[in-house]
Amino acid sequence: MPCNVVVLISGSGSNLQALIDSVAQDGNPARIGAVISNRADAYGLQRAKQAGIATELLDHKQFDGREAFDAALIQAIEAHQPDLVVLAGFMRILTPGFVQHYAGRLLNIHPSLLPRHKGLHTHQRALEAGDSEHGCSVHFVTEELDGGPLVVQAVLPVMADDTAESLASRVHQQEHQIYPLAVRWFAEGRLRLGAQGAMLDGEPLPASGHLIRT
Ligand code: GRF
Repeated sequence: MPCNVVVLISGSGSNLQALIDSVAQDGNPARIGAVISNRADAYGLQRAKQAGIATELLDHKQFDGREAFDAALIQAIEAHQPDLVVLAGFMRILTPGFVQHYAGRLLNIHPSLLPRHKGLHTHQRALEAGDSEHGCSVHFVTEELDGGPLVVQAVLPVMADDTAESLASRVHQQEHQIYPLAVRWFAEGRLRLGAQGAMLDGEPLPASGHLIRT
């Protein structure tokens, strides 16, 4: 059974590209049914078009508040009957109503080792904190911003000469590995959100999610 995925973006869409490339692989049951952006200039829209995927633009500035935008967003997503909704650099805080609607079928990727460095400027903050390790996390989305149950994390060492840019670039490469992996697990029916957290193959994942060290 194919797993229909709707991807939400706001920007470059390099994670979207990694997903597009991975669903083309043999035996991957994930299908990207649509890509929706809240920004007209998101380059990810071009990536989707090039891959023959339906695109939609829903400009949040055209809506009177978060509730109205999220209601329209749900409508736009539902038109594609998704089994899974994937946030791939979607730079909007979602309302509790939206998050509840997609509970257990909404994933996000965040460029830090959550629960460290929720929010923005994660690479700079990891450097300023003197962290010896940094990385990225895929998690189920709950009402707590960047706080939902972790699925998988890629951990990499911070080097003495790292800058925010060099870290961002290495973390991004890892994002492109772990997001397709998590989406594939979900599409294969191996990953789900249980009452106590994320489950893989019927077993609870550790609080950190599945760890990949590079
Ligand atoms: C990534 O760093 C992701 O972790 C964050 O937003 C960025 C999106 O990058 N949520 P891209 O648009 O996928 O290139």
